[in-house]
Amino acid sequence: MRKYCAGAIQRHLHADVTKHVKNKMSSPAAPPKTTPSRQTPTTAATTSTPQASTSSSIALQTIVAPSPSPRRASAPQTVLAGLGGTPPSSKRRRTEPVTKTGVGYNIGFIGSGNMARALVEGMLGSGQVLAGTVMASATRESSENLKKMKALGVSTTTHNRDVILNSDVIVLAIKPHQVLGIMTEIQAMFSDFQSRAQPHTSSPKSWRPLIVSVASSVSIADIEEKTEISWSMGASSVSGHLPVIRSLPTIASSVRAGITAYCRGKFCNEADVKPFVTLFSLCGPVEDVPEKYLDAITSVSGSGLAFAAVGLEGMADGAVLSGIPRHMALKFSAHAVMSAARLVLEKGIGPANIKDSVCSPGGTTIYGIQKLEAKGTRGAYMDAVLAATERAKQLKPK
Ligand SMILES: NC(=O)c1ccc[n+]([C@@H]2O[C@H](COP(=O)([O-])OP(=O)(O)OC[C@H]3O[C@@H](n4cnc5c(N)ncnc54)[C@H](OP(=O)(O)O)[C@@H]3O)[C@@H](O)[C@H]2O)c1
Repeated sequence: MRKYCAGAIQRHLHADVTKHVKNKMSSPAAPPKTTPSRQTPTTAATTSTPQASTSSSIALQTIVAPSPSPRRASAPQTVLAGLGGTPPSSKRRRTEPVTKTGVGYNIGFIGSGNMARALVEGMLGSGQVLAGTVMASATRESSENLKKMKALGVSTTTHNRDVILNSDVIVLAIKPHQVLGIMTEIQAMFSDFQSRAQPHTSSPKSWRPLIVSVASSVSIADIEEKTEISWSMGASSVSGHLPVIRSLPTIASSVRAGITAYCRGKFCNEADVKPFVTLFSLCGPVEDVPEKYLDAITSVSGSGLAFAAVGLEGMADGAVLSGIPRHMALKFSAHAVMSAARLVLEKGIGPANIKDSVCSPGGTTIYGIQKLEAKGTRGAYMDAVLAATERAKQLKPK
């Protein structure tokens, strides 16, 4: 069983260990070259793998000193071997370490739906993230979502443990009501490590995966109730809490134009935030916000995309009514929305100023504005955001 698992956490190890694993893989006992695994940018192995911070009071703490000469490369074999019959890496391809690109972190998505795919598209589209450093799971092989992920070239699996074991950043991209159940799964996995660990294996402190929730309405406190873990390998043990970030991306991440609001949990230190910021900022700006604002931001940012699309569609319909072909109407309407947004964001011009500067006395625009005001459009938008905020509060897992 061990031979199937040799590369499972390979990317979490240092360069010398990577070399060691590579040698192992070419030994007669190694799995065939086609045995799946993800690509490992050299930077991941040498510079960027998050380390447990022993100086931070909130970091995972090494409570027993590591073995003087730990066989780090053996660790993933041992751990994975204890987790069930199916070789966990059976959906992945092994490739030689990549030397040119990559931000240095492996990212895994539990859930392969709309939000996960948007993030993967954005990250891959940036050219900074290699498909081979991304993994995503879904409930079944026949999932359309999983097929779309596969088409993007990333590794896919129906075993969440594969995602967990192979990731520096684990994104919870399932529905909000599933988040706490998945966290229980993750906790149980760590207990499994502990009960089945064997001596002379890696130091666990070399791996401190970051949990990133993208689920609306699920609080950090609720997630953190399920982040306490304890595991040991050989002479080395770790106990403490996994770091958590609660985030709110939008599906505009797919075109690298989606803003992501985020807040960090109390066990998340500066070093833990770095991989999140590095990866998510490839999809658009990231904004550190107090958690108390996240429900309203869910409405104005996530749902706001849909609200803006409705306005855009309404304007396009008006243009069609005026005799313009649909495709042309959509193009000009979309540009109007985008241009207004860019003036606000890039020049700091307020929406009222934009309106005033377009409305010449007795001109066309003020006639249109009068219709919008008569229909209560502004109030309708305010009501929409407020209603969505209230709904976000109602949807919190009980
Ligand atoms: N969509 C948005 O605009 C948006 C914006 C911000 C935040 N979010 C948040 O993102 C999260 C996901 O939303 P979504 O729109 O992407 O949902 P979605 O399209 O329905 O995708 C959900 C995914 O989760 C998978 N899944 C379900 N149970 C699972 C399990 N036990 N283990 C692993 N995977 C499992 C599903 O697998 P199958 O494919 O097999 O069904 C599916 O791939 C939600 O919490 C939502 O609040 C969404």
